[in-house]
Formats: sequence, C-alpha cells, structure tokens
Amino acid sequence: VSRYKIINILDWCEILGEKELISKINDFSCPLNREIEQFVLNNALDFAKRKLSITYCVLNMNREIVGIFALAHKAIDIENSGFSNSKVKKLSRYATLDADNNSYKASAFLIAQFGKNYAVDDGHSLNGNGLMDLTKDVLKEVQHAIGGGIVYLECEEKPKLLEFYQNEQNGFIRFGERYSTEDNKKYIQLFKFL
Ligand SMILES: CC(C)(COP(=O)(O)OP(=O)(O)OC[C@H]1O[C@@H](n2cnc3c(N)ncnc32)[C@H](O)[C@@H]1OP(=O)(O)O)[C@@H](O)C(=O)NCCC(=O)NCCS
Repeated sequence: VSRYKIINILDWCEILGEKELISKINDFSCPLNREIEQFVLNNALDFAKRKLSITYCVLNMNREIVGIFALAHKAIDIENSGFSNSKVKKLSRYATLDADNNSYKASAFLIAQFGKNYAVDDGHSLNGNGLMDLTKDVLKEVQHAIGGGIVYLECEEKPKLLEFYQNEQNGFIRFGERYSTEDNKKYIQLFKFL
C-alpha cells in the first residue's frame, strides 16, 4: 500500500470545502520554480473548475500536500525524424503522419504542471520519480477509460530537469521546442508512450 494518496483537487474541494482547501494549498512552496508555486496558489482550483486542466494533489499520512501534478490533453506535432522502427510503429498507432510537413499529429496527455512541495520535509518525503509513478497511475486510468497513449510535457532548458525527465526510469524523449511570448522563455518538449 502506498504511503501517499492522490486526490483530484475538485474532489478534495468537495470534501474540505473551498476555504479549508485554499488554506491547504497556501502551504505549497516551490522555490525552485515559482511559476508552479503561483499556479498552485492562484490557478489550480479555478482551472480545474473550468476544466482547463485538472490538478492532482499527492498527500502524505498527515494529509499534507507533498507534490502536485496537473493534467490536460492537447494536440501536438512531432517531427518525423530519427525514430527507431518500434517508435514509428507506436507513433503510427496513436498519431497521424502529415505528409505535407513530415510530422505526426497527435492528441496527447499533457503533464501541464509537475512539482514537489518543498515546505514539507524540505521536499525530501517524495522524490521526483515517485511523483512521476503516481502521475502515471492516474494517466493509466484515463487511458483505460478513453484510450490514447502519448504523454508529453514542456520544460525549461535546464540540464537537471532535462536529465530527470530523460532518465532511465522516466524515459521521455525530446521532440521539439517552443518559445513562449507569454513569459519570454524557451521550453523543451518531451514525449513518451504510456
Ligand atoms: C522536478 C522534480 C519533481 C524532481 O524531483 P527529484 O528527482 O526528487 O529531484 P530534486 O528535488 O532532488 O532535484 C534534483 C536536482 O535538480 C535541481 N532542480 C530541480 N528543479 C529545478 C528547477 N526548476 N530549476 C533548476 N534546478 C532544478 C535541484 O536543485 C537538484 O539539484 P542538485 O542535484 O544539485 O541538488 C523536483 O525537483 C521539483 O519539484 N522541482 C521544482 C518544480 C519543477 O521545476 N518542476 C518541473 C517543471 S517542468
């Protein structure tokens, strides 16, 4: 049995009431990535209500948030270059090759936010691989319900983060990049098969 419980922010809001939920959320701190912190504090509940993305809170035995991830789904283009035969086979299962620009068009599960709460145990109670396993558990349920098989995310071009997502356990593959005019940052796009 896992030491952690994953709860959909909307379900948690039902249980606790909005006021209590917000007080729980306000304890979330992520000094390494203030954008994620701001997202949790300001947008997570609102976005979930509006069905833009759904945030999942990972709770420890004391019902403290040790990490969060937010999920959505989105269309992506994956350039058809340098993939192994087995990857091409899987890509063709979940995506359509657009001959005009030689790229696969797919609808994919998006990990829109992903981070630990450094206010609890200094971020040491749950590690990133553990948080990714829990994310995968939820995505597997979604996959079981509606199918699909590509997961993607975007991360800043930081070696530690890129290494984390591409490590042996997580296995994400780089496929593109996107420049955001919203925050003037470059994001590296990574995907994997669920
Ligand atoms: C990504 C994450 C879940 C990985 O968890 P983990 O594997 O348990 O890793 P740690 O927290 O120990 O971090 C590993 C290293 O990456 C560094 N790192 C993590 N996030 C970073 C970030 N956003 N920017 C720069 N460095 C970062 C840490 O400082 C640490 O460096 P060190 O090895 O020199 O101590 C976790 O680091 C995290 O919550 N980071 C902040 C949120 C974030 O940036 N999420 C990714 C958004 S795409």
